[in-house]
Amino acid sequence: MTSLPDGIPAEEVLARLDQFQSADVRWRDGRAFTLAYSAGPAVEQVAAEAHRRFASENALNTDAFPSLRTIQGEVVDIVGNWLDARPDGAGFMTSGGTESLLLTVKAARERGRRERAITKPNIVLPTSAHAAFEKGCYYFGLESRRIAVRDDWRADVDAMSDAIDDNTVMVAGSAPQYPQGVVDPIPQIAALAAERDINCHVDACMGGITLTYLRRLGYDIPPWNFEVPGVTSISVDLHKYGYTTKGASVLMHRTKQLRSYQTYVTDNWLGGLYGSSGILGTKGGGPMAAAWAVMHHLGDDGYLRLTETAKITCDRLADIIESIPQLMLRVRPEVTLIAFGATEPEKFDVNALADALWRRGWYLDRQGPPTTLHCMVNAVHAGHLEDFEIDLRAAVDEVAASGSIGDRGAYGSIE
Ligand SMILES: Cc1ncc(COP(=O)(O)O)c(C=O)c1O
Repeated sequence: MTSLPDGIPAEEVLARLDQFQSADVRWRDGRAFTLAYSAGPAVEQVAAEAHRRFASENALNTDAFPSLRTIQGEVVDIVGNWLDARPDGAGFMTSGGTESLLLTVKAARERGRRERAITKPNIVLPTSAHAAFEKGCYYFGLESRRIAVRDDWRADVDAMSDAIDDNTVMVAGSAPQYPQGVVDPIPQIAALAAERDINCHVDACMGGITLTYLRRLGYDIPPWNFEVPGVTSISVDLHKYGYTTKGASVLMHRTKQLRSYQTYVTDNWLGGLYGSSGILGTKGGGPMAAAWAVMHHLGDDGYLRLTETAKITCDRLADIIESIPQLMLRVRPEVTLIAFGATEPEKFDVNALADALWRRGWYLDRQGPPTTLHCMVNAVHAGHLEDFEIDLRAAVDEVAASGSIGDRGAYGSIE
């Protein structure tokens, strides 16, 4: 452990931070196909400035900061419009997709407990649904019933139906799911919930904004939002394809009553009435203000443009991958995610390819089973695809020649 030294001048502190960052992936140059998104320097500057102004403001209690109540209300309203929420729709901003998913699990448990006295709740969801559902079940004491996806990577609704019992409090699907980027059959999943009057969550953390604008652009998008009867809540991350700073997602419920199961209130201590909408207590105003600012700066036209750019770029990248004999797409991209593996996995290791790309400055996610590389294509990649193609082809040749085996990597780290 290191003791904190005496203070040093601000310029020196900032220079040291710059130095820490020097080995990081250059996401502003389109070199990260995961973890960071960029709509360009002008948008980043609006976000950073808004974030700075609200960095120490606290949404724990908006009586003191009515500005944050207004900001949250307006952000949730716009997201509600994107999601086709009904007049009674209600939501809160959260710190990210994981917090939104934790809270939907908690809300389902709470509803089951209060309305049906369920003490051993379970949720039924496809194996493709995000790991944060698992975390939510672990934190809040629910059983997670994972159902294998079909050959096309989509949820197997019949098998999900068979897994539901009297203790099931929620079913879930994704739009799209993270691993292969396909949209689950939401109307069929929601019908399972509607028949039983239980919750149905649609995880649109990744695709909520993109699907909304792809439909407006004329793409054929299957029904996935509140227009589908039986959907009770939807999560949408703003810090992904909303192009704002980290720490911003929205969890939207079909009604205020359903939202009430998300919140927590106690006065069982000496500090007075404590109410909170989510997991956090103190809730930084920075990400909320940045989200509001970026959404208003980009506007409808900005999101249309960015969505179209991301989609065209994603399809071009899919074509490039398909043209390389050693590689195969798991599925043609439906939204803006790409998953690809080796045509002959016993001869060519895509983890070694990811290592070779990282040596060239490109960062891709690794996942499995089956062993797969994963790209979230966003607007920033449009100007860098030619460079990526050159390095991808060189890296493929290198791995094919060496026959090397790469590191399995991890989606998230614990150090
Ligand atoms: C479909 C989906 N849900 C939830 C999450 C979790 O979001 P976060 O990393 O913001 O917690 C992700 C992250 O990629 C995702 O793709």
